[in-house]
Amino acid sequence: MKISVNRERLIATLQDLGAVGLDGSGGRTRLALDDGDKAGRDLFVRWLRDLELDVKIDAIGNIFGVLPGFEPGDPVTMGSHIDTVRNGGMFDGAVGVLGGLEVLRTIREKEISHRRSLAVAVFTNEEGARFAPDMMGSLVLTGVMDPNDAYRISDDCGRTVGEELDRIGYRGIDSVIPSTYLELHVEQGPFLDREGVSMGVVDGVQGIAWWKGCYRGQANHAGTTLMTMRNDALLAVSHLHVAVTDLVREWGGCATVGRVAVQPDIVNVIPGEALFTLDVRHPDVSCFHQLKIKVQEIMHRLAQRFDLQLELSQNVDVQPVTFDRRLKDLIQSVMVDHGLTFTHLWSGAGHDAQILARRVPSAMIFVPSIGGKSHCPQEESDFDQIADGVNVLLECALRVARGEGEL
Ligand code: HGY
Ligand code: MN
Ligand code: MN
Repeated sequence: MKISVNRERLIATLQDLGAVGLDGSGGRTRLALDDGDKAGRDLFVRWLRDLELDVKIDAIGNIFGVLPGFEPGDPVTMGSHIDTVRNGGMFDGAVGVLGGLEVLRTIREKEISHRRSLAVAVFTNEEGARFAPDMMGSLVLTGVMDPNDAYRISDDCGRTVGEELDRIGYRGIDSVIPSTYLELHVEQGPFLDREGVSMGVVDGVQGIAWWKGCYRGQANHAGTTLMTMRNDALLAVSHLHVAVTDLVREWGGCATVGRVAVQPDIVNVIPGEALFTLDVRHPDVSCFHQLKIKVQEIMHRLAQRFDLQLELSQNVDVQPVTFDRRLKDLIQSVMVDHGLTFTHLWSGAGHDAQILARRVPSAMIFVPSIGGKSHCPQEESDFDQIADGVNVLLECALRVARGEGEL
């Protein structure tokens, strides 16, 4: 007999969290560990306590709500993130967290038995919008990043992760390692919507590399400095943007110059300094490796060409990852049982599952993003498809928690 979650309650919960951090753009801004993120965390913890789950908070502020099974051991975990980018959508991350919460609400309410413990998780700073690297919570949880190194990372205003965790009261002492990890997420791209299918079985996630750089030249007068006599820092960033765009057009993958800031940022002064970020991604391991080398060559060559100093640091380097075949087979068979249309695809966006997958069997379920928009107020997904995705998540989590299959 198929079990269904409470669709109305799920939608209401999504809308309640979606109202946290509204920023006047039509979107919400809950940058990691800021007041909006704290408000979202506090709301989520209240929901966990209402459900009488064991609430655990670890050293980097990852939050777990655990529903114990009658067998001891690490929990089968569902989760994602609730931090957003600036002017973000209401579905990115929230669907995986609140879908997991609704699964536990349903299991509790219907008194469904399960051998293994189950948990729903919120991972800290998945977006990396305020503190780099992104997916910081899962990097620390899996031991890739030392929490003491994370604590020292600061934002543009010099506030550190450690100070902000203490300020919002989310530096914990618990430790939870998922036994298996399932993440429901909106696709954030156009593929499922364009294919007209209602679900995605995610085969893997492309590699992601981030750099933060600063070209330094010479501020000078916009009217008296000959074009042949300039050390224009912004010119190098402009050429970089075109060069990496041409490169990925040839090699596949994607490249984004997301942030640019010049100094002194005055209409009649040649920029003496140009800060920039570069985000480069590719699904193929060797292409990803080559691309990283190539873009660094370009960045350094542009410094020479325009007689500039370059200060460059790489703050994200996450390899492409493929998800657990047994879990993917389970997800697919549940989608078939539920009569849902689906297809397999790779994720263009990074996710905590990409980090967890190096340590525990992990997999992802995608729900279509209407028009393929995300990281903007126009991000939209269909509530019925979300509810279908949460029903698939429920069935998969229960089968794993009952020890079905060889998982
Ligand atoms: O950047 C990403 O792909 C993710 O949204 N953090
Ligand atoms: Mn996300
Ligand atoms: Mn995101």
